Amino acid sequence: MWEHEQLVVRTGKRSGMTTMVALHSTTAGPAVGGCRMKTYERFTDAVTDVLRLSKAMTLKCSAAGIPHGGAKSVIVVDRPLTPQLRRQVLLDHADLINEFDGAYRAGPDVGTGPDDMVVLRELTPYAYCLPEEHGGTGSSSVPTARGVLAALKAASRHVFGTDDLTGRRVVVSGFGSVGELVARSLTGAEVIVSDVDESRRTDEFGWVPPDQAYEVEADVLVPAAVGGVLSPETVARLDVRLIVGPANNQLTDDGVADLLEKRGIVWVPDHVAGAGGVIYTLAREDDGIGHEAAMKRVDRIEATVGKLLGGA
Ligand SMILES: NC(=O)c1ccc[n+]([C@@H]2O[C@H](COP(=O)([O-])OP(=O)(O)OC[C@H]3O[C@@H](n4cnc5c(N)ncnc54)[C@H](O)[C@@H]3O)[C@@H](O)[C@H]2O)c1
Repeated sequence: MWEHEQLVVRTGKRSGMTTMVALHSTTAGPAVGGCRMKTYERFTDAVTDVLRLSKAMTLKCSAAGIPHGGAKSVIVVDRPLTPQLRRQVLLDHADLINEFDGAYRAGPDVGTGPDDMVVLRELTPYAYCLPEEHGGTGSSSVPTARGVLAALKAASRHVFGTDDLTGRRVVVSGFGSVGELVARSLTGAEVIVSDVDESRRTDEFGWVPPDQAYEVEADVLVPAAVGGVLSPETVARLDVRLIVGPANNQLTDDGVADLLEKRGIVWVPDHVAGAGGVIYTLAREDDGIGHEAAMKRVDRIEATVGKLLGGA
């Protein structure tokens, strides 16, 4: 069923490439959400992605108590990107963002980063997370990881009776910027990491190939790679007690949550565990508060998860 406010798709006049914005909800305030730059097999896959991700942003802002709605944008990469073409499509995307007159505000997402936000800002004021030297707060991986750890603390107390993970086995699927920060913070735990990119492999942690990350016997699984990883098939193979991670839209559909519950696996929704970045960025860039105070807001995820799990 259609439940979004708007979906706008444009062919860029400079690049000839497709960019789109899905505005899920502005009920709570202007909608925020990252700009994903990605190659899709089919055009409809990009539309499905932008619609699902924008809804997840509404849930994320709502669960975090932020006065914003949810949106997302996608730049569909349909040919090799030269630096010039990348710039052209970003400028095209800035034109599209301006059509929303502030109702959509973009930040980085998979495939884009703070430097791309500098290009957007040439044409639109509605871009967050520029590098610090450009007056922004840069990548939000650090607060996102902090939020995952806050969620993990509350959930561990609920599941294991303690938030001390010493001696427990934790599998981190996706050893990227957030996954690495989380893995390095799990002092005392037996950490096993996994990534499609073999060059990320390190002797510091155990390693499993990505297709085995969801069947390793462990206490905790941290999905920190891509969405759609928890399906009826993967849930049947899981051998963990707790799942907490930042990857957006981890479930292939909402019914998978019931399957997890039936198997006695506690899953902290990604829109709760992965909200640290958006909480921090808006606290710093909109509310103008300092780093430490913004991190304290991120830490509130621990209380939210405790409440969700029944006050543990
Ligand atoms: N960075 C943030 O602030 C933030 C905020 C909220 C949510 N997220 C989400 O968290 C996840 C991780 O974010 P990130 O910034 O660390 O991204 P990243 O791109 O730095 O890292 C992702 C890692 O996952 C690996 N990967 C890709 N597909 C994989 C697969 N199928 N199996 C195993 N590994 C795979 C990549 O090689 C990469 O190393 C993403 O889904 C992102 O959307 C990130």
